[in-house]
Amino acid sequence: LKIAIIGTGNVGLVTGACFASKGHEVVCVDLDPERVSAINEARAPFYEVGLQALLEETVPDQLSATVDLETAVQGADVSIIAVGTPNTGSGIDLSQVETAALQIGKALRGRVDYQLVIVKSSVLPGVTDGRILPILENSSGRRAGEDLGVAMNPEFLREGQAVEDFLEPDRIVMGGSEERTWEIQERLFDGFGTPEIVRTTNATAETIKFASNALLATMISYSNEVGNVCSTVDGVDVTDVLRGVHLDKRLSPVLENGERVEPGFLSYLLAGCGFGGSCLPKDVRSFVDFGRERGVPMEMLRATLSVNAGQPERLVERIERRLGSLDGLSIAILGLSFKPGTSDIRETPSIPVARDLLGRGARLRVFDPVAQEAARAELGESGVYYSTGLSDAIDGVDAIVLMTSWPEFRELPRLLEEKRVTPLVFDGRRMLDRKSVAHYDGIGLGPQDERLDQLPDSTIDHEPIRKRV
Ligand SMILES: NC(=O)c1ccc[n+]([C@@H]2O[C@H](COP(=O)([O-])OP(=O)(O)OC[C@H]3O[C@@H](n4cnc5c(N)ncnc54)[C@H](O)[C@@H]3O)[C@@H](O)[C@H]2O)c1
Repeated sequence: LKIAIIGTGNVGLVTGACFASKGHEVVCVDLDPERVSAINEARAPFYEVGLQALLEETVPDQLSATVDLETAVQGADVSIIAVGTPNTGSGIDLSQVETAALQIGKALRGRVDYQLVIVKSSVLPGVTDGRILPILENSSGRRAGEDLGVAMNPEFLREGQAVEDFLEPDRIVMGGSEERTWEIQERLFDGFGTPEIVRTTNATAETIKFASNALLATMISYSNEVGNVCSTVDGVDVTDVLRGVHLDKRLSPVLENGERVEPGFLSYLLAGCGFGGSCLPKDVRSFVDFGRERGVPMEMLRATLSVNAGQPERLVERIERRLGSLDGLSIAILGLSFKPGTSDIRETPSIPVARDLLGRGARLRVFDPVAQEAARAELGESGVYYSTGLSDAIDGVDAIVLMTSWPEFRELPRLLEEKRVTPLVFDGRRMLDRKSVAHYDGIGLGPQDERLDQLPDSTIDHEPIRKRV
């Protein structure tokens, strides 16, 4: 199929590159000419595992980029809207989606063939049929169900694993309103493994996306709340506690051969310094706003957000309790992106933690394998040294705060041993064995570290979940 994709952010560009790799002919459209040039030179404009290789494979034969939306849409069988849907603080901002719909509609005026327009951006229940469809109809002079199809196909990719998630989806939710809208989506996704296909209405498709993100965010805040209470109890470690919870066979089923399956889901049931990124925080906020407008206060989701908002400060306060005044101390922050595998720093907890530490008088040495430059734009230079690598970051510091679970940070115990130094290592992701460094502390550890030395060796596998399903 010939596809025009409007918006080349994490979702639009990954979608475009993956469709192109499956043989579709893709034109990606963006307002940003620099982004467009980068794509046409097969250079990924942001870091995402596997994206660069896909661009090298598909540009220019299967994939190209342009700022000319009209021509791209006119040459396509399917147009996909993948622009941003930020939350402004008082609700979801649909202006990018509405503008894209208006532009697509105008481009379709006078074209004779049927075209399917797919909304891939996350929009609240009712928006595709109630707001996007009328804009498309009015601006194109077409009628949905006759020479225009309007579908909602939410995206579930996780940044950092976006290419893998897109190429091997667990489910494809296909909203639509008439047979052709689903049929064309099935052609589009032909060859993407054998996922469950959910054929449904646009409003249900929209709701599935928000309900999914709300669940994931809630599991994280649940784990963090359990961690916060564990951190007040002597001799308790939240990682052991949650491991005990995971072993419930309803969460990690035991197969007939005795092998235990550890669903990827369990990685959301671990305590840490909070969720971030461009999706979970804003989608939960938007869902809460949506509920409030409809007279449903969404109390549980509001609590999910408030637990999350408190995590950075809790972490800094705990470090201060361990070290006393932070004024004049040198502290390394390891990890700036909101999760490993991506350079995205949107709503990353690392930024509020860094600002809070600076506010308490600490000097920072920060390091992230790919998100350093993005963070520099947020944090500036004052009091912050941007390190050249892990070893440089920890030179001469009083404390190290692990904020993102980049796999290379597992080298930390070895590096500290080599350097013969023993700063406090505060593990905001609980990724290191608590006995692997001399001075360890972390989210969800009981208050008295002497008691922790008496705890039996952890039976927890500190590697990421072993057997994902
Ligand atoms: N990032 C994720 O992991 C993720 C996952 C699932 C769903 N989503 C949803 O997908 C949507 C896109 O997310 P994102 O992170 O890729 O967004 P983004 O903000 O990073 O990128 C949007 C892009 O669209 C471009 N754009 C905006 N209006 C345009 C127009 N009229 N014409 C051409 N280009 C235009 C912008 O220049 C920008 O490059 C959002 O609704 C988001 O909630 C994101």
